[in-house]
Amino acid sequence: MGSALPNDIDHVLLTEEQISSKLEEMAAQIDADYAGKDLLLVGVLKGAVMVMADLSRKLQHTTVAMDWMAVSSYGSGTKSSGVVRILKDLDADLEGRHVLIVEDIIDSGLTLSWLMSNLRSRGCASLEVAAMLRKPDAMKVELDVKYIGYDIPNEFVVGYGLDYAEKYRTLPYVGTLAPHVYEN
Ligand code: PRP
Repeated sequence: MGSALPNDIDHVLLTEEQISSKLEEMAAQIDADYAGKDLLLVGVLKGAVMVMADLSRKLQHTTVAMDWMAVSSYGSGTKSSGVVRILKDLDADLEGRHVLIVEDIIDSGLTLSWLMSNLRSRGCASLEVAAMLRKPDAMKVELDVKYIGYDIPNEFVVGYGLDYAEKYRTLPYVGTLAPHVYEN
């Protein structure tokens, strides 16, 4: 990683190396759990793009297909209300498929909660979740998430797919946003 952080980043929470080694562990577990089975990875746009790309390339043994969904939460604030609208649905038929939802972050958990019941109703053979980050202190619903990268504090984080006003997604690490960015 370069020496100087962008001015907008307060501190690095997870380095590129920490992310990569955690994905390595998650991939090994997924490989073991789905040995001999076909797996459909479902990425949730846009934040999950980086996790999807890196995690899927670390899978060794599993026969993997990829599909994508884009969803948007209704609500007044910037965060989920739990009422979700599908902006782009899956191309794949889930009937009889082993499906793994890939997410960058579980914040309130409301998006994922909605998504899990929506996808489950499509007749999957199995449905699990792999999420790189989870904020336990922000969660509003109980969720059964099989593969978790890191639990992080309830701070405003960006990078590795996570944005603020569509910026910072391409940072290779996860960092906290300096307050001056969002207090203006
Ligand atoms: C983020 C993230 C999850 C959701 C988590 O997406 O990718 O899908 O929020 O929040 P929740 O647990 O409170 O429901 P966002 O709506 O910011 O869209 P993006 O992925 O396009 O940035």
